Amino acid sequence: MRIGILGATGPAGRGLAARLASVGHQVLFGSRAVERAKGAVDALVAKWGTRVTGLAPCDNAGACDADVVVLAVQAGSAIPTIQEHAERLAGKIVVSMANNLVRSGSEFNAVLPPHGSVAAEIQALLWHSRVCTAFHLVPASEFADLDHAMESDVVVLGDDDGARHTLMELTASIPHLRALDGGSLRNAVALETFAAVLLTINLRHKCRTSLRLVGI
Ligand SMILES: NC(=O)c1ccc[n+]([C@@H]2O[C@H](COP(=O)([O-])OP(=O)(O)OC[C@H]3O[C@@H](n4cnc5c(N)ncnc54)[C@H](OP(=O)(O)O)[C@@H]3O)[C@@H](O)[C@H]2O)c1
Repeated sequence: MRIGILGATGPAGRGLAARLASVGHQVLFGSRAVERAKGAVDALVAKWGTRVTGLAPCDNAGACDADVVVLAVQAGSAIPTIQEHAERLAGKIVVSMANNLVRSGSEFNAVLPPHGSVAAEIQALLWHSRVCTAFHLVPASEFADLDHAMESDVVVLGDDDGARHTLMELTASIPHLRALDGGSLRNAVALETFAAVLLTINLRHKCRTSLRLVGI
């Protein structure tokens, strides 16, 4: 599959891009500055060699040229970024992984916009795109270490059944990453808020947790 990632230079986008390339996908590796994208791809190729040959550096506009486009920019920039690229994203499956969190002392809390979640806010703005969510609870470092098998479950949400199933297939193409159907975007608030709980657990227990469900 051909996947675009906006803001791929950050830990989350970079790790996801490397992992997707390592299982044979073509990844348009986007940044606001193409030179930053080139530098990050060069570093990944230096580390992983032919395992990441599917990475192609570009600017964020170029990364919209894929059927599935992942929004991996800093959470607070998700809305301005999709506003900038709204026309290019028309007809595409747009994937939000944004957890808009603030740290308050020794805990994290979610900051939710008027539509209830960042994902719902994005769908309200992108009328002509099929917005889904995934990867909220997968630590960037788990994606990034290609020598270690993934351990997380990924709850996928979206109002469009076809888009949600495509994203579940993409997720499940990464070995050991289980894709679970969590329903419509109305449930995005649960994942964005739970990310705050997970990071608080990490902080207080000095660990790096992710989600794994039992009974399925
Ligand atoms: N880190 C994790 O473990 C993790 C796990 C699950 C979900 N997430 C979510 O994944 C997303 C990315 O996380 P991250 O930790 O990689 O984020 P990050 O490092 O804060 O930012 C990612 C990229 O966003 C771009 N960016 C920064 N400021 C921007 C602005 N004002 N406008 C547009 N783009 C801007 C930058 O790329 P350029 O400068 O190259 O444009 C940056 O490299 C977030 O929404 C986060 O909530 C993260």
